[in-house]
Formats: sequence, structure tokens, C-alpha cells
Amino acid sequence: MAAAVPSAPAEQFVARCRELAGVSEEPGRLTRRYGTPAMARCNALVGAWMRDAGMTVRLDVAGNLVGRRPGTDPEAGTLLLGSHLDTVRDAGAFDGPLGVMTAIALVQRLRDERVELPFAVDVLGFADEEGLRFGTAYLGSRAVAGTFDDRLLDVLDDDGVSVRDALRGFGGDPAAVVHAGAARRGERLLGYVEVHMEQGPVLEDRGVPVGIVTAIAGATRVEVRFRGRAGHAGTVPMALRRDAAPAVAELVLFAEALAREATDGLLATVGRIDVRPGAPNVVAGEGVAFLDVRHPQDAARAAAVGALRERAGQIAAARGLELIWDVRLDNPAVAVDPVLTDRLSAAVTGLGLPDVRLASGAGHDAVALSALCSVAMLFVRCAGGLSHHPAESVQAADAGVALDALYDMVRGLAGHDL
Ligand code: HGY
Ligand code: MN
Ligand code: MN
Repeated sequence: MAAAVPSAPAEQFVARCRELAGVSEEPGRLTRRYGTPAMARCNALVGAWMRDAGMTVRLDVAGNLVGRRPGTDPEAGTLLLGSHLDTVRDAGAFDGPLGVMTAIALVQRLRDERVELPFAVDVLGFADEEGLRFGTAYLGSRAVAGTFDDRLLDVLDDDGVSVRDALRGFGGDPAAVVHAGAARRGERLLGYVEVHMEQGPVLEDRGVPVGIVTAIAGATRVEVRFRGRAGHAGTVPMALRRDAAPAVAELVLFAEALAREATDGLLATVGRIDVRPGAPNVVAGEGVAFLDVRHPQDAARAAAVGALRERAGQIAAARGLELIWDVRLDNPAVAVDPVLTDRLSAAVTGLGLPDVRLASGAGHDAVALSALCSVAMLFVRCAGGLSHHPAESVQAADAGVALDALYDMVRGLAGHDL
């Protein structure tokens, strides 16, 4: 397929993703966590772009950024668009922001082309999809969906700051979040449509710029903590040690072997380990493995988590350690809404492109929003399928195709002839 010439808006909003990548907590790399000053600076910049597109802008009680374009008919409801603005550590520029920038560019195009819609369009910049700071995920989108678990307010970050205090310090309202103050329940919602980079190789392999998501894999995240006894590396005999570090190592290798030996698509990752007190000459009194387990089928994922829990118990018992198994996230697989998805598909094929459908191994805010309304997702081709990496990249021409498809879908929803 000849490389399409990217439209000016596409060049602009891809450039905005790269500009936003400069808003980070850390020098020299992109890390932007929930409720931090970097996230506040991000919201200020994205909020200005939303206003430039003619939207009113607010921060909801959970810390999500919300841009609104009213419709002509107050009874016609609201279409939700957007994605997340938080990132993983040492992130790329497009995971999350691409969806928010595409939605803002859509609203800008609707205004520039004087397209009137009966329904309102809200663009949501979710505050915590990755869960980097608190080991959770979807804090912002779950508040919007009305499924926020108030026990999360007491979860602490590595510095001992609670979700409650981080939210309050960010200008949010913990009490209101608990009472579903951010929730959109009861409103007439036409659905939530999220544009997101694919974060995988399928679209590039198929030679197409966009693809339609069919389902989002379930995921479980567990903080597996082994507690033993710290001691002097030079004086505690090996036979007397209750060393947590080798226990973590055993579990990491077991998780890898379990997933490698599986043939059904099981994925098990330990992307972070902590041993404390964390000094070379001190036997580790505590060790934590941050476990992430995914599978397209929920029963298979639950079975794998069960096997990991059993093995962790055996490791702890054999080493005289205490085991704390702290499940931080346990999301079932989510199917997208067929009607909304078919509308998205019609917009893509209306551009003369094939209807390529694919499942998502990555989680998205659409998982949380599926508890509130119909959801659909459009994936955009990315280089080498790379993501959660500073080199992740998306071509402006492909982002432009996503914008065109979203534009046609939204006008189709309004009954406009395309
Ligand atoms: O972990 C995920 O799948 C997503 O990037 N939060
Ligand atoms: Mn993402
Ligand atoms: Mn991500």
C-alpha cells in the first residue's frame, strides 16, 4: 500500500505525543505516574490543546482530565473518547497519549468543518491506566465507571504515600470518588471508543495501518512478598538463614517455566523485584516479586495463578519464610461491543481498507469502561510491535487513517451521510 501523505492534523497530533513525552518525573526518560506534579503539567498542556479545539476542560474528582464538546440535543447523550495520560517507567511517547490526541484532533476537525452533532463528545485523559505508582491499574477509569474499590484509597506507594493523599494533593476528592462522584452511571452514553497503538506486530505483518479490536485479554497482578530475617552477610551461617532473595528468584524462574511450557498463550512476567533492606552485605529480610499473568481465557489464567500461589507457598515453607500474596488487579477478559465495533469496522472499510480484527494482549481503560457502557477499540500499527519502550513509534500517516476512521464513525453515529 503506497504510503499515504499524512494529513496536517495527523502530523500535528503525532508531534504532540512527542512533545508530551517531554513531560516526565525523571530526567532523560519518560515516567509519568498518577497524581504527580508531572501529571499535573501534562494535564495543563493537554487541557490547553483541548481548549484550542473548542472544548471546555475540567479535572474530575479522580484526577482524570475531561474535555467536553456539547451536542445540539441535550437529550442525545454523550460519546466518550480518549485513553490514558500516565505511563510506565522509561516509556514511549504513544502508549496512551495517541488515543487522547486522536480524539482531540477529531473534535478540532468537527469544529473546523462545522459539523454539528446531536450528542456531546467527551475526551477523557485517564489518570492511572498503568498502575505504576500504586501497583493497581485503572484507578481513573474505574472511578468513571463507578467501580472504584475504596480499599484502594489506603494502598501505599514506595514512599508510603496513600492513594487518598496523592489524590487529595492532586486536587481530587477521595470521599467523592468513593461515592462514585466521578461515575457517569445514569447518563445516556453512546459508548466509549478508544484509539490505541497496537503494541504488537500483527498490523505491521499484515501491512495495514489500523485494525479492529475483538477482545482484551484478562490480567492478574500480584505482589508476592516473602518475609524472613535480615542479617549480617559475614556472620549468619547459611543453614540458619531465612533469606527472602533466593525465594524471589525461585518464584521468578517458576513463573517463566510455567509460561514457557504452556502452549495456549499464557504469559507470566515479573517486571520488578525488590529485596530489602537492599544492601550487598545484608541477608534480605524481605523480597517482593511483582507478578503479571495474562491469558485470553479466564479459567486458564486462574489456573496459572493458582499454580503460582501453590508454588510460592511451597517455597516459603521450605525456607521458613512468611508469604503475603497481595492481589492488586484481577480483570476478566473483556469482549468489545459488536454494534459499536461494526460501526468502527464500516468506517475503516469505507476508507478502502481491509477489516483486520485482532485481540489485545495489553490491557486498556476500555476494560474498566466496559462496566459502564459499550466499548470499541481501534488499533494503530506501530514499528516492530514495540511498546513500553522509549523507541515505540507510530507513523503520522497511520495515525491519520485512525483519525479519518474515527471521524467517519462519529458522523455515522450522528446519521450524517458519509
Ligand atoms: O499492562 C498493560 O497491559 C497496559 O499497558 N496497562
Ligand atoms: Mn496503554
Ligand atoms: Mn501500557
